Amino acid sequence: MCGIVGILGNHEAAPILVDALRRLEYRGYDSAGIATIDKGRLGRRRAMGKLVNLSDLLMHEPITGKSGIGHTRWATHGAPNVVNAHPHRAKDVAVVHNGIIENYKELRDELTAAGLVFETETDTETVVQLCMSYLDEGMSPIYAAAATIDRLEGAYALCFLFDGEDDLLIAARKGSPLAIGHGDGEMYVGSDALALAPMTDKVTYLDEGDWAVITRNSLEIRDAQGKQVSREMRTIKADASSTDKGIHKHYMMKEITEQPTVLADAIGHYSNAETGAISVPGLDIDFTSVDKITMVACGTAYLACSVAKYWFEQVARIPCEVDVASEFRYREPPMSDKSIALFVSQSGETADTLAALRYCAGKVAKTVAVVNVAESSIARECDISLPIHAGVEIGVASTKAFTCQLVALAAVVISAARARGVLDAKGAQELRDALNSLPGLINQCLTRKNDIDKVTVELAKASDALFLGRGAMYPLALEGALKLKEISYIHAEGYASGELKHGPIALVDEHMPVIVMAPKDALFDKTVSNMQEVMARGGKVLLVTDQQGADAARDGVWKTIVMPPVHDMFAPILYAIPAQLIAYYTAVRKGTDVDQPRNLAKSVTVE
Ligand code: F6R
Repeated sequence: MCGIVGILGNHEAAPILVDALRRLEYRGYDSAGIATIDKGRLGRRRAMGKLVNLSDLLMHEPITGKSGIGHTRWATHGAPNVVNAHPHRAKDVAVVHNGIIENYKELRDELTAAGLVFETETDTETVVQLCMSYLDEGMSPIYAAAATIDRLEGAYALCFLFDGEDDLLIAARKGSPLAIGHGDGEMYVGSDALALAPMTDKVTYLDEGDWAVITRNSLEIRDAQGKQVSREMRTIKADASSTDKGIHKHYMMKEITEQPTVLADAIGHYSNAETGAISVPGLDIDFTSVDKITMVACGTAYLACSVAKYWFEQVARIPCEVDVASEFRYREPPMSDKSIALFVSQSGETADTLAALRYCAGKVAKTVAVVNVAESSIARECDISLPIHAGVEIGVASTKAFTCQLVALAAVVISAARARGVLDAKGAQELRDALNSLPGLINQCLTRKNDIDKVTVELAKASDALFLGRGAMYPLALEGALKLKEISYIHAEGYASGELKHGPIALVDEHMPVIVMAPKDALFDKTVSNMQEVMARGGKVLLVTDQQGADAARDGVWKTIVMPPVHDMFAPILYAIPAQLIAYYTAVRKGTDVDQPRNLAKSVTVE
């Protein structure tokens, strides 16, 4: 979603702002803009579409100055066009905003009644107009910004820049994250530490409700009550090279290919250094008294939870509920104080997941974050935070975060099962060995990527596709369908194989590719029967299975992708790789924007 940067620097700000915005591109956006102060005067440039358009505009119509703010906009209120692009400006004040101002209509009516004229339909313009009205009343920029922030309801990360003030930024945070970077006689603001990585690794995160007065040599933070507070300055690891595509054409392929390495790293973090046994540092939970696990997430993270539900129930024998955060947060489910709730999120900033966490806080025994961004809001608000160690994920379609989420969740399941006495030492060792074999197996899978590429020649011609799976492979079928539709724009659905006869089989004809994810496990024969039903109706089956499965499946399968054998429990992790590759190569063939698919955002900070 929208990305924010701000700079009080000692060099020309425009190129640095654009470069910082480039590092926020992965969040998804449809327009971009910057504003700077030169000799006290505010200047602004905005452009539709990709950042290259803004860079081109700046070549022809440069703006100078060493202080500035910048923004990539993912449209919420108002079409994605230049007028609606940020920074928004009302005479002496320019503002960039991430989030939604919920009471903007009320504020706008009030300001319109007072004679102010609005040029856009956006909620953000209300912020600049309101702030300008306070400046017109004679308030100083700091007081005007504070009075404005005080009136806002909803979610926001904001950064204000004022005409005549070349050493002042005001930043505020409620619901959307904001980091303040410390340089040498320079200060920065960014939606995340990655945006600021080339400039500084010293970062202070604003807490909920905080607002900050920033100059080149000072930072003063106040909380929502206006009380001056101090927030810890951290040294962040996000290094400047994390956003490099390396030899790959797309971030998505880079991230798919990184999986053997990052999974090995993640497994290492969840293994006891001396014994090698699976253990979860900091998981201070007495699982013997836990009566239920609730897992809440969105999108791919939700599907990781859906896989883990099978594990919690079958391996740890704990009743488990999984829900999408946007439903859970308004469902008002009764929560047991003996239960624990897990919130799984790559970004750690997803608005619905954060709201679900806030609903559970105080109602359950412990809240647990499973996140990739260790400093994120979800990580900081949960009682326990488990990092997934996937490294920065830039491609909008989640790949390595999914498999690393599953590793972290598997480690929790194994720890819980051991603590509850339902998994003996031998069983735990078997699972540990199986987990440790995954990086090697993924590597083997990746060596066969050309075979998968070939299969997509036909898939890319389809307008619809079905993915089938049983047991814990059912959520993986859903994940395969989600990946395919989000990056190739082919309509795809995932179904539990046994559900096919209850409706979706009506869709099957010779044009319908049906991708069956089925290792040769205890449920394989049942899935093969469902596959036969598809083939009998002319459906084209692409079977993803192991050698035993390929041998056992009868004639008529259109294509088979043969996977290395894997422990049943971890098949959803290994089979995620062909699911990702099928989507990737299909999208590349179709020429879609693989890393930044249309309409999507990486970090969904509005509901
Ligand atoms: C799909 C995808 C999304 C995210 C979802 C949740 O490939 O990436 O479905 O999984 O938006 O995001 P996080 O994990 O950041 O909460």
